[in-house]
Amino acid sequence: MTISYASMTIDDYDAVINVWHGMPGIGLHLDEADSRNGIAVYLRRNPGMSLVARDGTHVVGAVLCGHDGRRGYLSHLAVQPEYRGQGIGCEMIRRCLAVLRAEGIVKCTIMVYTDNNNGQAFWERQGWWKRENLLCMQAYTGE
Ligand SMILES: CC(C)(COP(=O)(O)OP(=O)(O)OC[C@H]1O[C@@H](n2cnc3c(N)ncnc32)[C@H](O)[C@@H]1OP(=O)(O)O)[C@@H](O)C(=O)NCCC(=O)NCCS
Repeated sequence: MTISYASMTIDDYDAVINVWHGMPGIGLHLDEADSRNGIAVYLRRNPGMSLVARDGTHVVGAVLCGHDGRRGYLSHLAVQPEYRGQGIGCEMIRRCLAVLRAEGIVKCTIMVYTDNNNGQAFWERQGWWKRENLLCMQAYTGE
């Protein structure tokens, strides 16, 4: 099987949501930022950085990638269960980090749900480390 990789466009939205939807570690937590408009805004702000992996025309994996000028961020890395363990997740990460590096971004951050033990184990296996001195906090920007 040959997997191809391409920049995510908004035309991939339905297929990507299909990959994420209901997936433990990701799809149980989709919200307004993952709406069609939310993803369109994200892709426009971070052109050419997010990826899809395809088997033929079928989207089997996806990741959001962007940066704020200081740090890179990866979100929603996901590979369909029947395609896991073949290096697709790692290849998407490798490509994203290369694009970030080319933009002068030297560090990348991910958020992993605390109950996503598999996800944490995966990232640690890839050499990512926990920031034990940081805690993520959030607020709405308005009412
Ligand atoms: C995490 C995920 C994207 C990995 O995708 P994948 O295509 O199976 O990953 P790869 O095949 O590229 O994995 C390659 C390496 O990761 C390791 N790995 C994969 N899953 C792992 C796990 N749960 N724990 C530890 N290592 C893991 C493999 O052993 C392999 O390492 P090796 O080559 O050194 O043996 C996939 O399991 C997934 O979609 N999970 C659900 C969504 C999720 O939790 N995403 C992360 C959100 S933060």
